[in-house]
Amino acid sequence: MHTQPVTTRLADDETLERRDPIVPPDAEVIITIDGPAGTGKSTVARTLARRLGLDFLDTGAMYRAAAAIMLDRDIPLDEPGELVSTVIGADLHFDFSADPPTMLAWDAPIDHRIRDEDVTAVVSQVAAIGELRRHMVRKQQVIAAQHPRLVSEGRDQGSVVFPDADLKFYLDADPAVRAARRTEQLRAEGHDVDEADMLRRIIERDRIDSTRADGPLTCADDAVRVDTSDLCVDEVIDRLEEVVRQRVASLVRAQD
Ligand code: DC
Repeated sequence: MHTQPVTTRLADDETLERRDPIVPPDAEVIITIDGPAGTGKSTVARTLARRLGLDFLDTGAMYRAAAAIMLDRDIPLDEPGELVSTVIGADLHFDFSADPPTMLAWDAPIDHRIRDEDVTAVVSQVAAIGELRRHMVRKQQVIAAQHPRLVSEGRDQGSVVFPDADLKFYLDADPAVRAARRTEQLRAEGHDVDEADMLRRIIERDRIDSTRADGPLTCADDAVRVDTSDLCVDEVIDRLEEVVRQRVASLVRAQD
């Protein structure tokens, strides 16, 4: 593979150094990124996908969409059958022409709703429903078949959904660091947040996510584990990109 810098002159006369793509344009590559909330996982996954020219799959958005549907249709949490059949009817999918891709239910955008506080409060419990997870796993595998150059982010992507992924990452960080990051983020958005309460909620969410019977939050044996506690988002992305750069040649050779 060629990785020699290529210098390109842009229209506004700026000079930009461009490298050959890290992942060749014709290679099928699935990269998974798992880990708990507050590790910067979504931003890291989305930016890494953009840098590598891959599609980005936010599987948390799918569970959040299911939770929003449950709340907005007044479906009780203890009626998983009704929830799953409604979610199947919603045909959750993404419009990949947007960046980040738009989450659609019944062919209508649902992004504006899925990060609301009431959705965040129940989504762990919704994501623990085994029947719903089996549906989501199948959907995610179908999406990957249609988008075979993918960075897929979630909790079970490397362990359950794509056990044969080409490269798996697991991002982690101290819960106190994650609570501080989340608090700062919400305060910047104008919310009134108590950091101690945020830490309690993060620990509880981790407990639910990592102890459920189906697809628990776990680091796959063959995942590259990165502790992000002392790293900023850009440093995490650079580190992952470096691992991809080191591994991609052998990945692509294995496909030939
Ligand atoms: O990453 P997030 O905060 O948007 O995820 C929302 C919830 O969905 C969170 O409780 C974890 C859960 N989830 C999951 O169980 N499996 C996934 N693959 C992705 C998210």
